Amino acid sequence: MAITGAKIGSVGCLIEARSLRQSLESLDLSELRDLFDREHLLVLRGFCNFASPEEFAQYCELWGEISMWPFGKVLELVEQQEPADHIFDSNYVPLHWDGMYRPEVPEIQIFHCVSSPGKDQGGCTTFSNTALAYERAAEGERKAWARVTGVYERKMEFYHSKTVAPVVTPHPSKGFKVIRYCEPPKAGDSAFINHPVYSFEGIQDADVPTLVTSLKRALYAPENFYAHEWQTGDVVISDNYTLLHGREAFVSGAPRHLRRVHVLGKPALKNPHLEFHR
Ligand SMILES: [Fe+2]
Repeated sequence: MAITGAKIGSVGCLIEARSLRQSLESLDLSELRDLFDREHLLVLRGFCNFASPEEFAQYCELWGEISMWPFGKVLELVEQQEPADHIFDSNYVPLHWDGMYRPEVPEIQIFHCVSSPGKDQGGCTTFSNTALAYERAAEGERKAWARVTGVYERKMEFYHSKTVAPVVTPHPSKGFKVIRYCEPPKAGDSAFINHPVYSFEGIQDADVPTLVTSLKRALYAPENFYAHEWQTGDVVISDNYTLLHGREAFVSGAPRHLRRVHVLGKPALKNPHLEFHR
């Protein structure tokens, strides 16, 4: 039976299980991959759950080679008591792309919601389709973005890296233009733990606020943006080469628990923007 999905806004596609007993493996993978290539974001809802991180990783391996981290294949995204980094806090996470600080950039992120934060608790994962944002921007804006290169340095538990990335860059295999941008945290947010160091080249310092505002408008425009409100059991598959993603803040103590796996492209993409990594 052909896979049918419903559009979710203009970014992504929702596929719902026919019954609670239906497994994700029952969906034809080549058909699902074609849909993913067209939509860039798939939400798979109501399928029978993965009982363990190992079962989840086993499913992800069907999509390609998993990128290994010091902690293994599966990142457990749960709020920590005294987090050393904003990733493990309940605060928001600005838009970014995964692997920007690592030697290889994963093509695909696969998330599994072990436990949703609950209704009205926040914690949506945010996605911006940067190919659409670029395509829909005015010519003047595109030109202004294309002159700028972001310089980002970040030190956390798993790396200390510096990345230098033009804001506008071709998609690594498909050639269309995408935006690679790590959004600066809100100014003066003292609760934001482990702020990355960032600056912009190709632009006067006085013009940086205009750039930030212009990118914010385009990336968060409803026609380019989707905030995923998690339900327990959801699986979300997103195109890390084309989208940027982040997180909305959630109520501290809410039972938000996601698992995330990075799947490498074929061939794996060596990070073209990495200046150092240690
Ligand atoms: Fe991320």
